[in-house]
Order: sequence, then structure tokens, then C-alpha cells
Amino acid sequence: MKTSSLVKNYSFTVISAVFASAAAFGFCGCSGTGTESADDTSEKAQTVQETKGKKTIIVYYSYSGNTRAVAKQIAGKIGNSSKVDMFEIETEKEYPSEYGVLVKQAQKEIKAGYLPELKKLPENFSDYDIVFIGSPNWWGTITPAVSSFIHKEDFSGKTVIPFFTHGSGGMQNMAKDTAAQLEGSGAAVLKAAAFRGDPKGAPEKALDAWLEKTGFSIK
Ligand SMILES: Cc1cc2nc3c(=O)[nH]c(=O)nc-3n(C[C@H](O)[C@H](O)[C@H](O)COP(=O)(O)O)c2cc1C
Repeated sequence: MKTSSLVKNYSFTVISAVFASAAAFGFCGCSGTGTESADDTSEKAQTVQETKGKKTIIVYYSYSGNTRAVAKQIAGKIGNSSKVDMFEIETEKEYPSEYGVLVKQAQKEIKAGYLPELKKLPENFSDYDIVFIGSPNWWGTITPAVSSFIHKEDFSGKTVIPFFTHGSGGMQNMAKDTAAQLEGSGAAVLKAAAFRGDPKGAPEKALDAWLEKTGFSIK
């Protein structure tokens, strides 16, 4: 993929040196437009059996707003069939506002398995039955902030529903890595969805189709 189309896809101006390293690391030249869902998470649990009366939280990290937009859409759609709270993950130390610097820092953190300190955690996380967890794609995987959240919280007995936004790379390793990080936690991880990053959120049809499959009756 050409630098010019990457810039367009990510809606940022990025120095060419960064894109050279990005290409080497593999977040361009990939397919993955539109929506995808991953089959490589737990095959046993693909549906929440009963959503009514279940306490649900939508936890997400968003650097530039695309994942936040999808989180809000989900909250608006499932509000009838479950009691829903939202929680935005924020890192103690803010990420750089300069995109080129951010991209390099993100690469370093992901390679090192760095888990950033978080500003806070949700109150009474143990009360929730269903956890939607949202992340942007950073270098083919979930953000360090979301990994940090997964490592800090106790997910035993919960149903986890991952959702992602991405640039031109698509789902890449996001669902697989989320499931791997939750392995042994006692959580049932449902099928993830990935949507092309857009400040307006996910295409409604695709979002509805995925949500219905998870067992929620949607508005
Ligand atoms: C540091 C960084 C790395 C990224 N790496 C990838 C990638 O490997 N593959 C991809 O498809 N998109 C990649 N993107 C694009 C984001 O996943 C996409 O723009 C996403 O929708 C941003 O979500 P947000 O607005 O919630 O932060 C990257 C963006 C950033 C900032």
C-alpha cells in the first residue's frame, strides 16, 4: 500500500520514516476493509444465554475517538435488554499527541509487553456479568492500555465480548491475543467484531448483525 493511501486511511499526517517501519512490522499491505468477526476465540461460548437482568459494562480504550464511538453505539443498542454501564480506560501518563512519536512508542511498548499504569479502574467490577471490551488496533494487536486492564482485573465467571476498530489492517491478531490474555481467567470469550475505524462509529447493519449473534435483543 502506498504511503498516500495510508495517510488517508488513518487520517493523520505521518512522517515517511514511521511508515517505513510500519510496513516492515506489517500494518499495511494487508486486507481487511469493512467488518470482520473472528472465529478463533472460544468455540463453546458464542452466545450470552440470558441477557435480561445481567449487569453489563462496556470497557474501552480510545486514542482518537473511533473505538469510543462504537462503544457508545453498543450502549445505545443493548440498553433495553441489559443494565449497561460504560468505562473508558485512561492511562496515567498520556500518550504523545504527535502521531509519529506515538506510533514509535506504541511499537516499543507492544514489543516489550509493557503494561501502562491506568488512572482508575471501574467501581465494583466484580458485580458485572458481561464485559464488552474495546480496543483500537495498534501494530496488529490490542493496545497496551487494554492489556493492562485485562491483567489488573479479575474476569472469572464473566462473559467477555471483544470489539475492535482498525485502519487498513483489519482484525489481524486482536481477537487471538485478547483470548490468549484471558486464558485461564475463568472468562468465556465470545466472538469478536472488528470495524473499520470511523469517527461516526460502525456501520449500523454490521453492528446489529454481530450484536444479535451475541444474544442481545437490540434497539
Ligand atoms: C500507534 C498506532 C498503531 C496502529 N496500528 C495499526 C495496525 O497495525 N493496523 C491497523 O489496521 N490500524 C492501525 N492503526 C489505526 C487504528 O487502529 C485506527 O485508526 C483505530 O480506529 C483508532 O481507534 P481510536 O480512534 O479509538 O483510537 C494504528 C493506529 C495507531 C495510533
